[in-house]
Amino acid sequence: MTSKDNLVARARTAVVRRLDPVAARRTATLAERRTNGIEATPEVATALDATAALAVRDLAQRIRSGDLDVHHQAALAQLVEAYLSEHPAESLPHGVAQAVASSFEGLWQPVGEPVNEPPPFIRDVIRDQFHRLYYHVSKRTWKDTWYRGVRTYKCPTDMWIYMELIDQLEPGLVIETGTYRGGSALYIADRLETIGAGNVVTVDVNEPPNPPQHPRLTYFTGSSTDPTIVEKIAAMIPEGSPVLVILDSDHSRDHVAAELEAYAPLVPVGSYLIVEDTNVNGHPAAPDFGPGPMEAMWDFMATDPGFEVDARCERYFLTQNPSGYLKRVR
Ligand SMILES: C[S@@+](CC[C@H](N)C(=O)[O-])C[C@H]1O[C@@H](n2cnc3c(N)ncnc32)[C@H](O)[C@@H]1O
Repeated sequence: MTSKDNLVARARTAVVRRLDPVAARRTATLAERRTNGIEATPEVATALDATAALAVRDLAQRIRSGDLDVHHQAALAQLVEAYLSEHPAESLPHGVAQAVASSFEGLWQPVGEPVNEPPPFIRDVIRDQFHRLYYHVSKRTWKDTWYRGVRTYKCPTDMWIYMELIDQLEPGLVIETGTYRGGSALYIADRLETIGAGNVVTVDVNEPPNPPQHPRLTYFTGSSTDPTIVEKIAAMIPEGSPVLVILDSDHSRDHVAAELEAYAPLVPVGSYLIVEDTNVNGHPAAPDFGPGPMEAMWDFMATDPGFEVDARCERYFLTQNPSGYLKRVR
């Protein structure tokens, strides 16, 4: 069985099992037949599809009337996941496709009408699938993103949030670990220039080729966790000023943990520390990455370091830093 078939079968079973009792009884009968070795016949497959379609029609009706309990929600979430993961639509029974489509109805209000957000469980499935699409076709998305002709590995929705944080905080210093080509550092320098305050320092083990120059921008070459570099950076913070720290270098758990230890103490109350690329290792992208920024962040937050996740920074749904915008609150 291919992984697609598996997914579809799981969704189908989930729906049938969780929904109406008649459909559940029919599934049980079919399962019994399957144990007796007759599952593979087209007749049984068709019957199962028909059962699923029946259950899904019931589900669609419940969506429309807003009558969904947690079991329906769980079934629907699996369905949507399966549907969106495994387009084309013919991979699922027609009823499934219709139910999924109807769950999106609230998004298609005419202009000017109040828009009904989809229920949170559907919204999150859509968000995660879009996130995977964005992340995994990297050559046309985050690896093809430019600021004033300089490449940056930033997601545009995150760049907008950075702009808002800079406007709001007016930081005396922005500290970026991981320069790459310097595109993000140049962007930050320009934003600081616009508000007429602050400087940005960026550190990388590799010197960027042709680094963009800006009067508010300083480059350091070396490891972000080298104590000498950390000390030099700390000395650049104007007395009592807000600080914005952005951790975007080596994304392994151990390195991010070491960066958190080095840089969190430089962030005063009310300022922010951003742990970048918490989305890898299956949160929800790059499932094979291994423990990374999210895991380091969890360990860090478990020690109660005085930070809170600012969920408002994730309001555009797409962020490469889920749970990564940390505000110092004490
Ligand atoms: C994701 S890129 C940075 C992207 C950049 N901030 C941007 O948005 O365009 C990660 C960078 O971290 C650098 N790096 C890896 N290990 C590092 C370390 N220990 N200290 C500092 N930089 C490191 C790599 O050389 C690479 O250029």
